[in-house]
Amino acid sequence: MTIDPQTLRGNWNFPTLMRFGPGRIAELADACTELGMTRPLLVTDPGLSKMPMVVDALDANLAAGLETALFSDIKGNPIGKNVEDGVTVYRATGCDGVIAFGGGSALDAAKAIALMVGQDRPIWDFEDREDWSTRVNVFGMAPVVAVPTTAGTGSEVGRASVITDQESHLKKIIFHPNMMPGIVIADPELTLGLPKNFTAWTGMDALAHNLEAFCSPHFHPMAQGIALEGMRLVKEWLPAAVADGGNLVARAHMLAAATMGATAFQKGLGAIHALSHPCGAVHDTHHGLTNAVVMPYVLAFNRSAIEDRMTALARYLDLPNPSFDAVQDWVLALRAELDIAPTLAELGIRAEHIDELTPMAAIDPSCGGNPIPVGEPELRRMFEMSVSGELTV
Ligand SMILES: [Fe+2]
Repeated sequence: MTIDPQTLRGNWNFPTLMRFGPGRIAELADACTELGMTRPLLVTDPGLSKMPMVVDALDANLAAGLETALFSDIKGNPIGKNVEDGVTVYRATGCDGVIAFGGGSALDAAKAIALMVGQDRPIWDFEDREDWSTRVNVFGMAPVVAVPTTAGTGSEVGRASVITDQESHLKKIIFHPNMMPGIVIADPELTLGLPKNFTAWTGMDALAHNLEAFCSPHFHPMAQGIALEGMRLVKEWLPAAVADGGNLVARAHMLAAATMGATAFQKGLGAIHALSHPCGAVHDTHHGLTNAVVMPYVLAFNRSAIEDRMTALARYLDLPNPSFDAVQDWVLALRAELDIAPTLAELGIRAEHIDELTPMAAIDPSCGGNPIPVGEPELRRMFEMSVSGELTV
């Protein structure tokens, strides 16, 4: 195959400064101070806001002389209004930085709040399209310390937030390179309490990120290597983390796999995410769960473009008879082992919903990383397969 050297280009932006390890939440105040904060706003979701880990963090910051405000009015799939309200609280309480604390929803909302405190345009003007990120006033952005409490989205190392536009029912990707948090505190002890189903679903989101990044055709060899090892960690540790939520070794490896997935997907995502986003926006399905359901159908659809890569992946994962089928069989077995529904129909998405979802998927920026170019006909077919359970195109 002849390679055009002009295609060997890209904008690479990692790694993030990460403080990784059990117990490192104790360094939260220190991390805030390192980024110049004197009065942070801790952004989390309503469930976590009353949990000891958040209450303790607020107390510890106060004891360190860092009075910290709290904002937790965030939906499971955060909406533009949640970001607006957070900006209002940030300004009203005189904050100068953001602690993004929680799962993907809280982290995404927090990063968007940190972006929007310095802008005077609506958030939708910063969607991940063309050169729209150049509209951002970077000097107004607030510094962010991110504290993930799930091992999945990897939003703690990402440069974007997924926010739902309630008017259009679209999940929009809000992007700027400086949205990458300044410091991450990755403490696997914070993920110990995550229930079995969320452990499985968020873990499958981590797999989807690594897998789609690995299959994306864009040029990013660093991301390629990270994605490969990220998938190996999921294979080795996700079943153990689900089987025994108290297994700190498994939790730590999954937290690493999640950050690796989001680091890798700078290389691009694909149709798994393009299908999943509208399902979440319209039917409020869990993001990681939806990804897990559609994953084998998207792999089957992309097969002709990814046979070589799947074979290489199968070798690295030490699967028997390395090939596309080896990876597909592993994904199907993992999905079953984790008790994940085999079709979208079981999530309440049926054939009559496909007409509405397809055009939404077609304008999702994730489409750009799919190994086969996709428009409405291709996405419709993948929706049909995912609803009916057919694994052949
Ligand atoms: Fe995702």
